[in-house]
Amino acid sequence: MATTDGDANLMREKAREFAGRWNSTRTFIAAAAIVFVVLGSVGALGLWSSLIAFVVLAGVAVLQSILTGEARGTMMRTATTQPLSAAALLGSGAGLTILNELPDPLIILDGTGRVALANRAATPILGPSPVGKHVATAIRSAPLITAIEEVMRGGAARSVEYSVPVPVERHYDAYISPIDTEAAAAVPGVDPARRRRDRPVLVLLRDVTDMRRVEAMRVDFIANASHELKTPLASLSGFIDTLRGHAKDDPQAQERFLEIMSDQAGRMRRLIEDLMSLSRIELREHVRPDSVVDLLGVVNDVTDGLMPLAAQNAVEIVVTAAPDLPKVRGDRDELGQVVQNLADNALRYGRSGKRVEINLAPDAKAGKPVVRLTVRDFGPGIAREHLPRLTERFYRVDAAASRAKGGTGLGLAIVKHIVNRHQGTLAVDSEVGRGTVFSVLIPAAGEAKPAA
Ligand SMILES: Nc1ncnc2c1ncn2[C@@H]1O[C@H](COP(=O)(O)OP(=O)(O)OP(=O)(O)O)[C@@H](O)[C@H]1O
Ligand SMILES: [Mg+2]
Repeated sequence: MATTDGDANLMREKAREFAGRWNSTRTFIAAAAIVFVVLGSVGALGLWSSLIAFVVLAGVAVLQSILTGEARGTMMRTATTQPLSAAALLGSGAGLTILNELPDPLIILDGTGRVALANRAATPILGPSPVGKHVATAIRSAPLITAIEEVMRGGAARSVEYSVPVPVERHYDAYISPIDTEAAAAVPGVDPARRRRDRPVLVLLRDVTDMRRVEAMRVDFIANASHELKTPLASLSGFIDTLRGHAKDDPQAQERFLEIMSDQAGRMRRLIEDLMSLSRIELREHVRPDSVVDLLGVVNDVTDGLMPLAAQNAVEIVVTAAPDLPKVRGDRDELGQVVQNLADNALRYGRSGKRVEINLAPDAKAGKPVVRLTVRDFGPGIAREHLPRLTERFYRVDAAASRAKGGTGLGLAIVKHIVNRHQGTLAVDSEVGRGTVFSVLIPAAGEAKPAA
């Protein structure tokens, strides 16, 4: 499409050139006719010799016009059949149209640092109508401006980091490269006189905000995981020293310390299991499970296993399910982990409510049948500001309370990844002092392939 626009522009330009030349041939013939008629009539030349001279001159002019017209015809045929050069594209309107489609900001500066061309993605950085503005008025980053100046003065192409703090913090990798004079000549805004002094440059900004965010999360994750492992490890080492030292001959203390050590080792094991489980689920997150699962069977299995914990916390678990409940499409073990984590949280954090309700009901999401699993407790609830962060790894409302209850802070992160893999939805609703409801929607098996 863009190439057709470029061809059309070239053809229009050639047609204008042709019309111009033909007009000058006609003017020449008319002027020559007038001069010879006047000279002939005043007797300066003989009438016949004037006429002959006029016819010869007019013939030469017409022949020249035909010859240049043919040459031009060849040129036009070549121009329309040859691929357009980058310079021709840049010079035409099609060039900017293409650059406007780029997701990354691209700026071309003339040799004095004024904007010669900027694509649409550069508008948030340079503002509207940036052409002619000096780059330093829009970009207030000393390292970037210095790098641009160095490249303009003959330095090699380079990359520098560039950050924009407002309205939303964004980070860019700015690539600055000189443009060779031939290519620069095609850019409409580059002033040829200035071009001789300093080189025009191209500044391409690559948005690396998301990459930075992921990198920060990775660093946080490693720091958190190491910290969570270090704490029980330090405790274990401490007790080993104590058992070897002053508790060596105290069987009662030994018994107590071994109990604590076993708890700490269990905590480390759980953390490692959770981390492995999380990475396993993440690896398979894009592969949708396709077995047919009876979610009520999963809930009953999990709650049976939780009965001792419920009895210990004096909490009653009540399971209800709609009679016409469809089966879901999923992975039985992973769905078991979802129910386990949500029910475990409800029992641990909501135990003051004395009751946990688990319900299964058919529902619909975007017109498709799903099964809704809700786990409700009547405990202290969760303040609104924590709700969006609950599924972050290691995020806890009360870290000390979670650790004291043996939590790793990974449970809801695992739940979220499993639900994503099942193309389901996870939602939480909570009111401080009244309790919390976690809801999970899992697509029904109706549209599923039978298990392989
Ligand atoms: N039903 C609930 N009532 C109150 N707070 C809750 C509830 N469920 C979760 N939370 C809060 O959310 C935090 C994160 O829960 P999550 O299940 O991810 O981690 P955890 O329970 O601390 O550890 P893990 O589940 O890995 O053993 C918990 O530490 C707790 O503060
Ligand atoms: Mg949990």
